Amino acid sequence: MTGIVSVIVAIVLSIVLAWVTSRAWRLRNTPLRIVASIVSGLLTLVVAVVSLVGLAGIYRLYTPHGGPPAANHATPSRDLSLPAMLLIGAGLFPTAEQPHISAPQIAPPPNTPAYGEYLVDTTGCAACHGPDLRGRTPGGFGPPAGPNLHAIVPTW
Ligand code: HEC
Repeated sequence: MTGIVSVIVAIVLSIVLAWVTSRAWRLRNTPLRIVASIVSGLLTLVVAVVSLVGLAGIYRLYTPHGGPPAANHATPSRDLSLPAMLLIGAGLFPTAEQPHISAPQIAPPPNTPAYGEYLVDTTGCAACHGPDLRGRTPGGFGPPAGPNLHAIVPTW
């Protein structure tokens, strides 16, 4: 089952559960009403959260974000499972390393510090060497931790 179908099922399920909760709330037997309302209310909450995070995942994955047009060849399927959709929806797994580009990018003149910064930005050095190139601490998720370039490069 694909992520999209699972998210639609979760949305329908959360609506049904919300309805069940409203019915449970109207039960005459007070102890039963409280237990049934709490159980179905909590279930509704969990499934509603899954639906919302899943919807966020669908939005992140399938809506165009102003990037360059797709290359003129077949691209792999983006059919993801529900857990993968939830990871993306919760923002735990970025779908692109670089920020969205909304305007044409013009390179600064060559042989200037601005051009060096442009090259470092566009080639993704910061992913491993840290946002200010002062190195990243090894360990955890992500790319290999690169050393502090401010310390290494002046020794060249
Ligand atoms: C995928 C991760 C990654 C990316 C991306 C990356 N680096 Fe590195 N870089 C490393 C690691 C890891 C080392 C340490 C290698 C070692 O010690 O053997 C390193 C080492 C270096 C060094 C030190 C070399 C030396 O003499 O010790 C320089 C300079 C450097 N990187 C520059 C860059 C620049 C410039 C970019 C962008 C164009 C870049 N790196 C992109 C991971 C990365």
